[in-house]
Amino acid sequence: MNVADTERATTRLRAHDYIVSDSPAAADIVLFNTCSVRERAAHKVLTRIGEVRKQRRDQTPLIGVMGCVAQLEGELLFEQSPHINFVVGTRATDRLPAIIEKVLEGQGKVLDLGERAEGESLQIATHARHSAYVGFVPIIEGCNKFCSYCIVPFSRGREKSRLASEIIADVSRLRDQGFREVHLIGQNVNSYRPALNDGFELFKGATPFSRLLRAVAATGIERIKFTTSFPRDFHEDIVSALDEHENLCNWVHLPVQSGSDKVLRAMRRGYKVSDYLRCVENTRRAHRRISLTSDIIIGFPSESSSDFKETLKLVQTCRFDGLYIFKYSERPRTPSAKLLDDVGKEEKASRFLELERLQREVQRGIYLDYVGETLKVLVEGVSTKSLKDMTGHTTCHKVVNFAGNSQMLGSVIDVQVTESKINSLYGKDLVR
Ligand code: 5AD
Ligand code: SF4
Repeated sequence: MNVADTERATTRLRAHDYIVSDSPAAADIVLFNTCSVRERAAHKVLTRIGEVRKQRRDQTPLIGVMGCVAQLEGELLFEQSPHINFVVGTRATDRLPAIIEKVLEGQGKVLDLGERAEGESLQIATHARHSAYVGFVPIIEGCNKFCSYCIVPFSRGREKSRLASEIIADVSRLRDQGFREVHLIGQNVNSYRPALNDGFELFKGATPFSRLLRAVAATGIERIKFTTSFPRDFHEDIVSALDEHENLCNWVHLPVQSGSDKVLRAMRRGYKVSDYLRCVENTRRAHRRISLTSDIIIGFPSESSSDFKETLKLVQTCRFDGLYIFKYSERPRTPSAKLLDDVGKEEKASRFLELERLQREVQRGIYLDYVGETLKVLVEGVSTKSLKDMTGHTTCHKVVNFAGNSQMLGSVIDVQVTESKINSLYGKDLVR
């Protein structure tokens, strides 16, 4: 989401003749995009502002903060740092040029935490995209779920779905521009519920999201991925849509958060372990092997060692292709902030390591099974590990590195897997 917001900000600023610099050392304006899901997010941005100030002692740039910290802290940020000139909330990104204009006109500090303007829709400029081959398409903003630990409903507001017609137009444009893959993104993509049916009238489906998937698949773009899915809204028709359309990729990110019903209840997730397992079974019944990834929070208030053991058991059962593990981090204003953060620091660290160890073991087995297989890889860049290697993703969203050259960039090639690592595969391309 933050990457998509940066693309949006860049599009707007370039349209108003700003030049985007890649270094704060030379910029006249430094804009910080922020995330507040975990840890001391406000603290982090203030530290970074301090660093930029130190670097630029002779000529001070204008400083702005956007994103979730901006939305949550608002006016407070001006008190916390006298160097901040403007604060832009999560739905005010499109007004950036006007906000900066006000600062330049000498109107003092400017704050905009407002909602998006009615009917506001923005075409992301190709040059502003983070990749020339993979395009992010937001389909739903905000969240209504209010999981007890989570700041997102406060930082990003209520769920708001874009019209399917707009989404389809975005995807078709990306396809015409030569993009090979799109990611439909949102806090909970499968809670997608637009106000009107515009754009997917001709497509069937048990839920608006599965209709959208079929409509997007019909654009013919080569690969479509979507993230993040919410278990309670994970209708089996999503898997049927994946079965029907090969360009709907075989990867589902479905955060479970805990393997204990007691903890899930305290987290207010709205499902039980058995419901989650049913979703997993649905993905396992698909024609293709669907890669499944998840998020888990360890050390939620009152998580006992037996609750944690249930999480370990769930991870054994589900055999996730990938897992993001987070230590519980108390977020002010969330319901769980009222609970005692009673799992000690050391205990959290040890649970984290134990779960990580288990996941590595599971993953080693899964990744090993790919050795000898030929996978379709979208070549996205040069590998960070070796300049001789190229890197890309499979349809099941695994990273694959292989010996290649930059002429392959942007193409989908067949790679035979020769080696498996913990978080990636290594192989050789079959053409050469
Ligand atoms: N503490 C720890 N992890 C959190 N997440 C969200 N809020 C918190 C929190 N307060 C994790 C969840 C979510 C992911 C994006 O971040 O696992 O799925
Ligand atoms: Fe946060 Fe829960 Fe919404 Fe995910 S579903 S963004 S965890 S409140």
